[in-house]
Amino acid sequence: MPDLSNEKSHADGKILQHTAGGVGVITFNNPDKRNAMSLEMWEGFGEALTDLRDDDAVRVVILRGAGGKAFVSGADISQFEKTRHNAAASEEYGKRSAAQRALLADYPKPTIACIEGFCLGGGMQVAMLADIRLAAHGSQFGIPAAKLGIAYGYDGLKHLVSLVGPSWARLLMYTGMRIDATEALRIGLVERVFPVDQLWGETMGIAQTISENAPLAIKAAKLTIAQVLKDESGRDMDAIKAVGTACMDSADFREGRQAFMEKRKPKFQGR
Ligand code: COA
Repeated sequence: MPDLSNEKSHADGKILQHTAGGVGVITFNNPDKRNAMSLEMWEGFGEALTDLRDDDAVRVVILRGAGGKAFVSGADISQFEKTRHNAAASEEYGKRSAAQRALLADYPKPTIACIEGFCLGGGMQVAMLADIRLAAHGSQFGIPAAKLGIAYGYDGLKHLVSLVGPSWARLLMYTGMRIDATEALRIGLVERVFPVDQLWGETMGIAQTISENAPLAIKAAKLTIAQVLKDESGRDMDAIKAVGTACMDSADFREGRQAFMEKRKPKFQGR
């Protein structure tokens, strides 16, 4: 279990945040509702993301759900009657939650979704915005928008199509079906699947490895991969060049070379 001595809480405790070494952890904590996301939780999630983004000691962020039954079961449907009952209300709702998702989409540090249980609707959107998805056997994935009469929106579908291709995206969206972790792995929706009792240890292991690697090299990879996914006309080749130059001129590159020659573990500082 994680050390929770530095835990911070947002949205009345429904979003929790803590750090362990260079790893930041955000927990969706509304297990009675399978971690369904209320607007307050979206806002708390944004606060936690901002806090960990601005903490220089944090080099990678894990997102997880509390309770063992769900990562996030989607938006909180019980709020829809009040906040999302027609196009105008839905647009306002969309803006408030989209602002927090934009933080994750443009996050400067690597992010990992650690998925145990249901990952549905808006939960899939969060998971797909993370850089990497790791899941427990038995987890269930789906976007039941067609069962609710909701349009899923451009950003969510863009990520879905880029991960699983247009045909699987259509099958998932037209049927609203749920698939299990084995199938999610096969179609490229998640990168790795572990037995449930190993998921957290494996996730922390990967996060710790990332947190010990050279931050500028990771930043260069993250930025460049994001640019690869853009249309050529919107690609910022200057930004790719700048981050590459920063890396090759960095003290960390010197340290990486020296540590290799001296057969010791490098100690990177992100500059
Ligand atoms: N919004 C609001 N409440 C939700 C919720 C959601 N997205 N998902 C689950 N809950 C609530 C249920 O209403 C239930 O509340 P209750 O105890 O007051 O009756 C509680 O969480 C537990 O859910 P339950 O359905 O009893 O648990 P389960 O383990 O059998 O099934 C789910 C879990 C997630 C598969 C099922 O609750 C579900 O299909 N939820 C809706 C998912 C969805 O459509 N998401 C997309 C929203 S855009």
